[in-house]
Amino acid sequence: MRLTSLGLLCAGIAAAANTPGKVTYHKDVLPILQKNCQTCHRPGEAAPMSFLTYKDTRPWAKAIKTAVLSKKMPPWFADPAHGKFQNERRLSEAELQTVARWVDSGAPEGDAKQAPPPLAFQEGWNIQPDVVFEMPNAYEVPASGTVEYTYIVIPTGFTKDTWITAAEVRPGDRSVVHHVIASVRPPGSPYLRNVKPGVPFVPVTHERDANGAAIRRNVQAPSADLQRASQAADGAAVVATEFLVGYAPGLQEQRYDLAVPGAGKMIPAGSDIILQMHYTTSGKAASDKTKIGLTLAKEQPKYRYLTLSAAATRLEIPANEGNYESNASVTFKEDAKLVWLMPHMHVRGKDFLYKAVYPTGETQTLLDVPKYDFNWQLGYDTSAPIPMPKGTRIDCKAHHDNSRNNPYNPNPNVTVKWGDQTWEEMMIGWFAVVVDANVNPRNVINRASRGGE
Ligand code: HEC
Repeated sequence: MRLTSLGLLCAGIAAAANTPGKVTYHKDVLPILQKNCQTCHRPGEAAPMSFLTYKDTRPWAKAIKTAVLSKKMPPWFADPAHGKFQNERRLSEAELQTVARWVDSGAPEGDAKQAPPPLAFQEGWNIQPDVVFEMPNAYEVPASGTVEYTYIVIPTGFTKDTWITAAEVRPGDRSVVHHVIASVRPPGSPYLRNVKPGVPFVPVTHERDANGAAIRRNVQAPSADLQRASQAADGAAVVATEFLVGYAPGLQEQRYDLAVPGAGKMIPAGSDIILQMHYTTSGKAASDKTKIGLTLAKEQPKYRYLTLSAAATRLEIPANEGNYESNASVTFKEDAKLVWLMPHMHVRGKDFLYKAVYPTGETQTLLDVPKYDFNWQLGYDTSAPIPMPKGTRIDCKAHHDNSRNNPYNPNPNVTVKWGDQTWEEMMIGWFAVVVDANVNPRNVINRASRGGE
């Protein structure tokens, strides 16, 4: 008889596991939303609706189930087989089931006492800025047409080398700001040197065909500036400019001491901040005044956070080519620790892979993005710094799809080369390393790239 009662007991436990209690918003769903969704789904951020409260979330319950089950949300493109990332947003199988069960049972609210404490978000800024720079004049974005990439030089006025631990871009009007790239231009850099501070400058305009594809470049900047511009784009001229922080869907503030406490980014005395603004017209005229905020280091950092890149700038993607391969590599000349990765391509971008080849000959896939999506510029913060001993090589391999099978392809019948605009292409493997604070940033890497195979 003992056996039977044991059997009954087991059956009882199994039944309890299979018929769990009611799944509610406060107890079960809110923790998932906090961890994976609220960075974007709250007022003032990238997503169009807020998931901070039950009242705001409830109307979206069905859409939430669809979006998470189809893996459309949260946006995350790293193949989980490779690399571990601190900012990973991905629901486990159990969490997916929780969301599905909650929605299927009518999306009940439950008891607010069971809710986790709300996350502490700041109004507006996500960082605590000590210094804020704003575009001196508003940029007037027309209702329609194409606005060429516009550069705005903002002097920092820093009289001494300034170390920062975080930076963030806050667009003035998100409806027209597609992306912003903020770079640091140290004094003496020839990059865009003749551009007046505060005055919007367009280095290149284009003539376009009926599809909007660029057919001719009209260069407005002196050639030395442009040469520097393209070098800066492929990162060769770390010293001409250094990537500071960007804004784009999915890309948020940067915290330079996230992976390695005591690390910071250095802005040399007398530097300017250069904003590359990509405005898109929305059908309604708009006015934008973007800001950038910096958090100053409280003490002298021991380590320097350097943003570098490997890039294939000589791309030449043939018309109708569905799987164009390009490669770019860098080799470390100093010991460094890898902390961040951000692949960048445009609408023909298909996949992107970073691999480390160590001096021992061992290799490691650092990040594999099998399905690149231009709509999301995601940066991947490594969960722990990855040592890149001197002599280690990072190989980036990417593919572009210039065929008609690519639904985002504006024109499969043209050869596509490197360029700023989305109908031109890029292949940049951005990454950041932390090095000893005294290392000369010029001496950290060597580069090599191939446009295609
Ligand atoms: C990196 C920012 C970001 C994160 C994180 C994020 N979202 Fe979104 N979400 C957006 C943006 C932007 C949109 C609107 C554009 C779009 O639909 O692509 C959106 C749209 C949606 C929509 C509407 C989808 C549709 O088909 O119209 C749902 C539902 C949604 N998100 C749910 C979620 C849930 C649930 C999570 C977390 C599990 C999440 N999102 C995480 C940025 C984000």
